[in-house]
Amino acid sequence: MRLAKFLAHAGVASRRAAEEVVRAGRVTVGGEVVRDPARDVDASSGVAVDGAPVGGPEGRVVHLLHKPAGVVSTARDPQGRPTVVDLVPAGGRLYPVGRLDADATGLILVTNDGELAQLLTHPRHEVPRTYRATVAGGPVSAAALRRLREGIELEDGPTAPARARRVAGGVIELELHEGRNRQVKRMCAAVGHPVRALQRVRFGPLRLGDLAPGEHRRLSAAEVERLRRAALGR
Ligand code: URA
Repeated sequence: MRLAKFLAHAGVASRRAAEEVVRAGRVTVGGEVVRDPARDVDASSGVAVDGAPVGGPEGRVVHLLHKPAGVVSTARDPQGRPTVVDLVPAGGRLYPVGRLDADATGLILVTNDGELAQLLTHPRHEVPRTYRATVAGGPVSAAALRRLREGIELEDGPTAPARARRVAGGVIELELHEGRNRQVKRMCAAVGHPVRALQRVRFGPLRLGDLAPGEHRRLSAAEVERLRRAALGR
């Protein structure tokens, strides 16, 4: 397979961007810098980008995406809406890690590493997620924040203790350690503050930062390792 195609399949970048990465001299094959995007390679060729192995079992990728509103966080949508996977060009199969509502924005991970995805979404290893909610119902009172922190009785049981703070009158941040369906919206509605806009700003050790909606970046090996540790509670 052509080197640029191989890199695209491994999720390094789009085909065209991968050609640039090769021409820039960032790619080695068997330890030698290769600047020809058409070089024939396979998983046994020892392809690396910036020194990091790509393809084969080491070819696992994790991307942090800023999901825009209106994009669904499934790999495919029966209604034909755009998906988070559509926003991350890669030749191979990618899956979202967990879910964000279609109208919510913010940090979502997309990966080809099924094992990591499972680890991060398993209820036993739930890593903390922080949401910024713009709510209706006027300024959020100290009493409402206290209820959000202490737990709210929802139809599917009480919520676990959470962190809640007011960022501005009608904007709060909630850090949850569980990932129930529409949880932030249901919690806020229960204290009289229906959510008008919802953004996930943190996922374990990762922050959304200043990625624009629709943009993504590949996590470094060190970031993936921090995630894994967060899920395992180390
Ligand atoms: N809570 C919600 O209400 N929606 C999400 O997408 C995530 C958490």
